[in-house]
Amino acid sequence: MIDELKRVLNGLQAEEIIAYVAAQYGNRVVFSTSFGVEDQVLTHMLAAKARDTSVFTLETGRLFPETYYVWNRTLERYNMPIRAFYPQTDTLEVMVSDKGPTSFYESVENRKECCFIRKIEPLRRAIKGFDVWITGIRAEQSSNREDMGIVEWDEGNAIIKVHPLFHWTLTEVEGFLKAFNVPYNPLHDKGFLSIGCQPCTRSVGAGEDFRAGRWWWEDKSKKECGLHGER
Ligand code: ADX
Ligand code: SF4
Repeated sequence: MIDELKRVLNGLQAEEIIAYVAAQYGNRVVFSTSFGVEDQVLTHMLAAKARDTSVFTLETGRLFPETYYVWNRTLERYNMPIRAFYPQTDTLEVMVSDKGPTSFYESVENRKECCFIRKIEPLRRAIKGFDVWITGIRAEQSSNREDMGIVEWDEGNAIIKVHPLFHWTLTEVEGFLKAFNVPYNPLHDKGFLSIGCQPCTRSVGAGEDFRAGRWWWEDKSKKECGLHGER
């Protein structure tokens, strides 16, 4: 089944991918948005072609004010519900009480614990019961992502992942935002290429890697939070 889906989707443009998945899977499709530039392109396409898709965001509690700003603009513009998933209060309270509010800077282990509590556990609840999970992943974002493809089977979460913008360049993403006047995170114009939690994201300089601003104090090989790939 997944091979057939790969075969079909590999020959389609992003909007066609979205329309095809919506036609095949209907309300069993879920889209995760972090309000990054790619996610804004996808929200625009979903609003036009696949309004039955469920949309969620992982509200880690540590997002940038600019991210909340674009969240509001997105609600106004597209009028599609965006469900917020929060960390479980009990585990969060234990971690912050035991280790303080910035334990993630102290070790990779602490960082992964925080990402697990604020993102991975809520993600599991968010995608539960759905057949297809759409994301804004692009091949260009990192060498690890280059190996993924438009469609992949996520064994850990037992769900089909679809990345409609997989082959898009950043220039194409920016061109789409401009052409359709799509609201986007103002941090993008200040050198932020990949935007996650505020304490763990910084801007990147010209020529630096797309994800160089994420968990910048860590070894490059460890820079995934576990939403996609290695934990
Ligand atoms: S991450 O793994 O490093 O955090 P990244 O920021 O590159 O991921 O985003 C890739 C895709 O993961 C986004 O297009 C979006 O689908 C999903 N994603 C990342 N962060 C969130 C979030 N906070 N809430 C919902 N989806 C997210
Ligand atoms: Fe915690 Fe940083 Fe991971 Fe956000 S990105 S969940 S603040 S460690």
